[in-house]
Amino acid sequence: MTIKKLITVPDELLRKKSQNIEKVSTDEKKLIKDLFETMYHHKGIGLAAIQVGIPKKIIVLDVMQKDDKKNPLCFINPVVKKIGNEKSKYEEGCLSIPNTFIEIERPKTCIVEYVDIDGKKKIMECDGLLSTCIQHEINHLDGKLIIDFLSKLKKDLIIKKLSKTKRNTDRIIV
Ligand code: NI
Repeated sequence: MTIKKLITVPDELLRKKSQNIEKVSTDEKKLIKDLFETMYHHKGIGLAAIQVGIPKKIIVLDVMQKDDKKNPLCFINPVVKKIGNEKSKYEEGCLSIPNTFIEIERPKTCIVEYVDIDGKKKIMECDGLLSTCIQHEINHLDGKLIIDFLSKLKKDLIIKKLSKTKRNTDRIIV
């Protein structure tokens, strides 16, 4: 397993729409293992393949992470089929947008159709944190980020700040 390099805003690849997977081959299975490794390494609770620069519809999640109790979930070609009327709010962060938290209201429940790692079609009813997390990750597959929930002004400020941070990291004085 390999910890993959995360891409971050303003990398335009994060805006790319991910492609459906026709068949879950060994390449995809390896990628899924790497995504879990990368997510756990960075202490995230969700990660989409596009966040390591691969535009395939694969999401990994673990919203149960506490000590040694892991509950890894993988969704291939996930689609939200139905949303509930009730809303819930979380302060969301994103591994692709360092040091940024945004309060976002989303449907508290949703029904997601997906393909599992064995290529089988499945349906899952999601509630609370899982519901928010899966919607956040499915947004990634559509090229949508949490900063898109903000006004243009606030969004531009964050992108500007992150662009500067990135430049400073590469700058060295010897
Ligand atoms: Ni994210």
